[in-house]
Amino acid sequence: MEMMDLNRRRRGSFVAVVAASALVAGIAGCGGDDIKGSRADLVHGKQEFVARCGACHTLARAGTRGNVGPDLDAAFAQSIEDGFGRDTIQGVVHEQILYPNSRMPAKIVKGQTAVDVAAYVANAASKGGEDQGALASAVRTASAGSARAEGGKLEIDANPDGQLAYTVRTATATSGALEIDSRNASSVPHDIALASADGSELGKGETVSGGGVSRVDVDVRPGRYTFYCTLPGHREAGMEGTLTVR
Ligand code: HEC
Repeated sequence: MEMMDLNRRRRGSFVAVVAASALVAGIAGCGGDDIKGSRADLVHGKQEFVARCGACHTLARAGTRGNVGPDLDAAFAQSIEDGFGRDTIQGVVHEQILYPNSRMPAKIVKGQTAVDVAAYVANAASKGGEDQGALASAVRTASAGSARAEGGKLEIDANPDGQLAYTVRTATATSGALEIDSRNASSVPHDIALASADGSELGKGETVSGGGVSRVDVDVRPGRYTFYCTLPGHREAGMEGTLTVR
């Protein structure tokens, strides 16, 4: 495997990064503002980024707002300003996926998928605006519509693509005993909790992923409540909504 070193300036300091495997060098385009490599599937890269990386990283064009790891728009802003091509950034991201420095789990995606994700991130980072064409519709809208309790049961599922959102932003129920079920088809762990208007937590379901259901049983009276995910950073990134009880 052929490796090359490059220094890149980030957050005011020089960081040495070993980047670009022969594979990445092979698909790298001629630089400039867009990745020209024909062998990277950006649509697939975006979908996988949202599903596997977005819970930890903010990337505006992907609509992800995770805050466990660095904001990837900010992380590459300086390198782009300094004139590093997006093909170079693709190599840095690919290297990070395979051989992260520390806290990030290694090889969350592998092979061609890792190439696709790296290409998408490099293409989208610090670019402003919105994805166009096929990329614009690569990932479903995180939340839409409202859920309504039936027979004392309310379903508020987690976004199946791994975005930090439930499938609905609002829900309604009538007073009395209420079971809230939150199915999570994604690989990103989530739970669901309910708090009253004063912010006190009334109950919380277990943490689930891969199709598990987080369930919380509460007794509600007329008023406004908030449902949210208690995993670190998820609520702050948008994984919450309002339950109105009549
Ligand atoms: C569990 C949380 C988590 C997941 C999931 C995750 N990362 Fe990270 N990532 C981190 C953390 C924490 C750091 C900073 C420490 C480090 O470098 O290991 C980081 C660092 C990075 C960096 C370096 C940013 C910089 O400032 O130079 C890149 C690029 C990156 N991640 C891309 C990805 C991609 C692409 C994925 C999905 C394949 C991903 N990450 C998945 C937590 C995560």
